[in-house]
This record gives sequence, C-alpha cells and structure tokens, in this order.
Amino acid sequence: MDRRKAMKITTGAFALGGVGLFTLTNVFKPEKKPDVLPQKLQFNPEENKWNFFTLDPVITAQLAYDYYNEGSCMFATIKSIISQLVKKIGEPYTSFPVNMFKYGHGGIGGYGSVCGALNGAAAIIGLLIPDKKVQDNMINDIFQWYEKESFPQFNPVNPKLDFTPSASISNSVLCHASNTNWSKASGYTVSSNERKERCRRLTADVAQKVAASLNEIFTNVYVTNSVSNDEATTCMACHGNEGKIKNTSVKMSCTSCHSESVGHHVFADVHYKFMKEQL
Ligand code: HEC
Ligand code: HEC
Repeated sequence: MDRRKAMKITTGAFALGGVGLFTLTNVFKPEKKPDVLPQKLQFNPEENKWNFFTLDPVITAQLAYDYYNEGSCMFATIKSIISQLVKKIGEPYTSFPVNMFKYGHGGIGGYGSVCGALNGAAAIIGLLIPDKKVQDNMINDIFQWYEKESFPQFNPVNPKLDFTPSASISNSVLCHASNTNWSKASGYTVSSNERKERCRRLTADVAQKVAASLNEIFTNVYVTNSVSNDEATTCMACHGNEGKIKNTSVKMSCTSCHSESVGHHVFADVHYKFMKEQL
C-alpha cells in the first residue's frame, strides 16, 4: 500500500473514531441530577439566649466598612451585627468576645484559606441559629452567592480611600483565589491599599447579605438554594454520595481548582456507565 493511501485510511479511521467517540460519550451521558430548586426554608426558633431583632442591612454594611480598620474582615462582619445587638439588647451581647475574631483576617491568620468575611457570616449564623440543618443551608447559600456575585458593590458614605474598585467574580470562597482574581482583573497588587479598599467594601457586602438573610429567616420568609451551581451539581452526579464514585464531599466551585482533563472529558461518561459502584 502506498503511503498516500495508508494516510487516507488512517485519517478516515481517526475521523470515524472521532464521530464514534462523540456519539458514545453523548449516548452515555448520565442523567443529570435535577437542579436543587429554590424553596422556603422551615425554621422554628428554639429557646436561645442570643435573641435577635431586625437589622437594617445597609446600616450593617456601613458599620462593617467602618470597623474593618479595627480588626479586618472577619472581625468587622461580626462586630457590625453584634454592636447593634449590644445597643438594643445588652447582655449577653455586651460580654461577647468580638476581639477573638481578628484571627480570621487574610483567610485565617493570613493563611489564604476561607475568606474572613464569609467566616464571620458563618460564625454569626452559628451563634443565632441553633438548628444545624438551617445553619448549613444558610451558610451554603451565602457561600454560593459569594462565588458567583461580582464584588465589591458597596458605596461607603465616607470612603477611607478615594478609589472606586472595579468589581470581579471570585469563583471561590478562598481569600487567596478571591484576592488574586481581583488583582488580575484590576491590575493592583494584593499588597496594595486599593486591594484593601476592595476587601473593606466586600466585607460590607457580605455583612449586608448576612443581615438580610437573618431578617428573612427570623420573619419566616427565607428562600434557600436561590443560587445553585449547575456545574458542581453535574460533577457531583458522578462523584457525590448519590453517584457511583462517591470520592468527594465538596460544594465549592469545582472549576476554581480542577479543569477537566482530556481523558476525563472523552472517557468519563462511557467508563462511568460500565463501572461498578464504588462503596
Ligand atoms: C459521567 C460521570 C462523571 C462526571 C459528570 C464527572 N466525572 Fe470526574 N470522573 C469520572 C470517572 C469515571 C473518573 C475515573 C474514576 C475512577 O476510575 O476511579 C473520574 C475522575 C475524576 C478525577 C480524577 C482524575 C482525572 O482527572 O481523571 C477528577 C479530579 C474528576 N473526575 C473531577 C471531575 C470534575 C471537576 C467534574 C465536573 C466538571 C467531573 N469530574 C465530572 C466520572 C465523572
Ligand atoms: C480548593 C480547590 C478544590 C476545589 C474547589 C475542588 N477540589 Fe477536588 N481536589 C482538590 C485537590 C487538591 C485534590 C487532591 C489532588 C488531586 O487529585 O488533584 C482533589 C481531588 C479530587 C478528586 C479525585 C479524588 C481521587 O480519589 O482521586 C475528585 C473526583 C474531585 N477532587 C472532585 C471535585 C469536585 C466534583 C469538586 C466540586 C464540587 C471539587 N473537586 C472541588 C482540590 C479542589
């Protein structure tokens, strides 16, 4: 056989193979789990000495912005809410150790892990909402909202720095990724005052969100799953507890760390179809 003919046959085989693979991967696509739909979250307030009263979310945001310089993101988120409850209710809030939460800055002691504003939001929810299931839902909702929202949005009354940061989507709850994504989008370094101003305003956004969420849960109008992450749901259809592989327990946005390998993209569906369930 001459080389040209051989080439033609090989190219043909590759093309057919390509079409075949394409058909295969599409035939074997697993059924997508239905998206988690928004639904009302039931909450029956139990006996809790940490009482709550309705907060003004915009005032809360401004307070968080102002407290940021005293102890950074986690501290500011918590103090924006506790300081209002101290004024209205007094004890036990007066004795609440807000200073403890300075540790959360820079993703916990500057370690770059979970964003301090989010850590603060989760801590406040942990304090005020005893029901663990309700807690988890509210925390997940705020985290998913944070991953997909473009920040910062807050406009302070008296800016600490005369600079309006551009907004960017973090696609991650991690301080490191959130800051770096913003720095790349804006052109300012992570150590700049401009980046600090971005986090000061972002802290205000998160405080505003948690205040609004608390108002809603305590007046029984809270809707959970309002931002669902379709892509994570797709991955978890195979890798989560209801899938066959069951090797991950994670809700963070997968693509902030994983990009699908070519092998995975081409073979995962077929392989999955025939593989045994891993227990
Ligand atoms: C159709 C089911 C299916 C879906 C959907 C799926 N995977 Fe997989 N994934 C597999 C299979 C099968 C393997 C190989 C596992 C094995 O053999 O133990 C795998 C392996 C992996 C691995 C290990 C190494 C590698 O890259 O091959 C990672 C990481 C991974 N998947 C991440 C993801 C992410 C992220 C998503 C969503 C974008 C996703 N998977 C969606 C089926 C799936
Ligand atoms: C913050 C980064 C990060 C995020 C976000 C993340 N992963 Fe991973 N994942 C890792 C690391 C690190 C490993 C371990 C090293 C590796 O296998 O790459 C891993 C491993 C895996 C594995 C392989 C496990 C094994 O036994 O080989 C799968 C599957 C996986 N992740 C799926 C997911 C899915 C699905 C999501 C989203 C719902 C997700 N990951 C989100 C960092 C992340």
